[in-house]
Amino acid sequence: MKLLSVVGARPQFVKLAPIAHAAAAAGVEHVIVHTGQHYDPMLSDVFFTDLSIPAPDVHLGVGSGSHGQQTGAILAALDGVLERERPDWVLVYGDTNSTLAAALSAVKLHLPVAHLEAGLRSFNRAMPEEHNRVLTDHAADLLLAPTTVAASHLRAEGLGGRTIVVGDVMTDVLLTVRDSLSGAPASVLTSAGVSAGDFYVATIHRAENTDDPVHLAEIATSLKALDRPVVLLAHPRLVARSAAAGIDWSGGAVVLHPPLAYPDLLAATMASAGVVTDSGGLQKEAFLLRVPCTTVRTETEWVETVELGWNVLASSAQEIFAGVQRPAPEPTEAAPYGDGHAAERVIQELVGRVG
Ligand code: UD1
Repeated sequence: MKLLSVVGARPQFVKLAPIAHAAAAAGVEHVIVHTGQHYDPMLSDVFFTDLSIPAPDVHLGVGSGSHGQQTGAILAALDGVLERERPDWVLVYGDTNSTLAAALSAVKLHLPVAHLEAGLRSFNRAMPEEHNRVLTDHAADLLLAPTTVAASHLRAEGLGGRTIVVGDVMTDVLLTVRDSLSGAPASVLTSAGVSAGDFYVATIHRAENTDDPVHLAEIATSLKALDRPVVLLAHPRLVARSAAAGIDWSGGAVVLHPPLAYPDLLAATMASAGVVTDSGGLQKEAFLLRVPCTTVRTETEWVETVELGWNVLASSAQEIFAGVQRPAPEPTEAAPYGDGHAAERVIQELVGRVG
């Protein structure tokens, strides 16, 4: 079988890692296409190196742009690649502009498309990620859902016949990398000058938070006023939008810090007193590591983290404050995201469906 993966943004490289390993173990020919949506080394190259992912076979070098420009440029650039490669399956990951462009390119060439992380919904139609995932699910031939809740969303949209629950591949990576950490102190303790158990890890990069200067200023005010140092792992988008809006992160609890490589992020999270984020992946990573999370959004796709008490949603300064200060969550053994073998299941399913 010939599998072709299309990835382009940071969380997709994390998801690609267990798929690449499972494909190699099963003797599947695997072509990796990098769209170039993320190009900063700390958002891209470091994941390939640290997670032992083979270098991309094709790099489209598309870079940044408006949603339309970026999606269109990927779509146009992929056509020739897919026609040349003619894989048995095109695998698309998550909910970025790279995901939607790759799904569209494949269906228009009548190539079978599978969507990994299908069925997640925020039900917030203002989010670019929601457009991307809904449209991708409706275009794809096989929907690989991470959870039973995601599968129920797909059934509700009439897509149950194309859906299977495989578990969450980000859980596969997390368990492997967590178990391989050396036990050495987290690098962030030195690089940010904080003490284990006495700081928060924060990330803010979603358009709904960064692109509204008033809301971003409110987030800055609340993080600066927290009771422990806040190591803010700053995505380039946050840096750019803060500068444009004249928002100053200094003069409070916030320590601005470059993004971390994946193993360093897990170590930092485990060493922290809590996480404040708008990232989908980090909410789930905090839950899997049993670190309390406060999510700076009005909804989440990972509803299990909230139902089990390890995550709370917060958008105003007051809610962020209350979320971070809340009492410790109840311990739980629940494993809604699978057993760490989702990627093997994905590869088995894809191989089993090639005629
Ligand atoms: C994208 C995804 C989002 C995902 C996130 C992970 C979409 C619609 N959004 O958001 O779902 O959670 O990736 O990080 O696809 N930039 C750089 N260097 C880079 C990449 C981006 O400086 O390597 C800057 C550029 O100014 C760019 C901005 O960040 O315009 C936004 O990047 P983009 O890829 O458009 O979206 P993300 O915010 O990263």
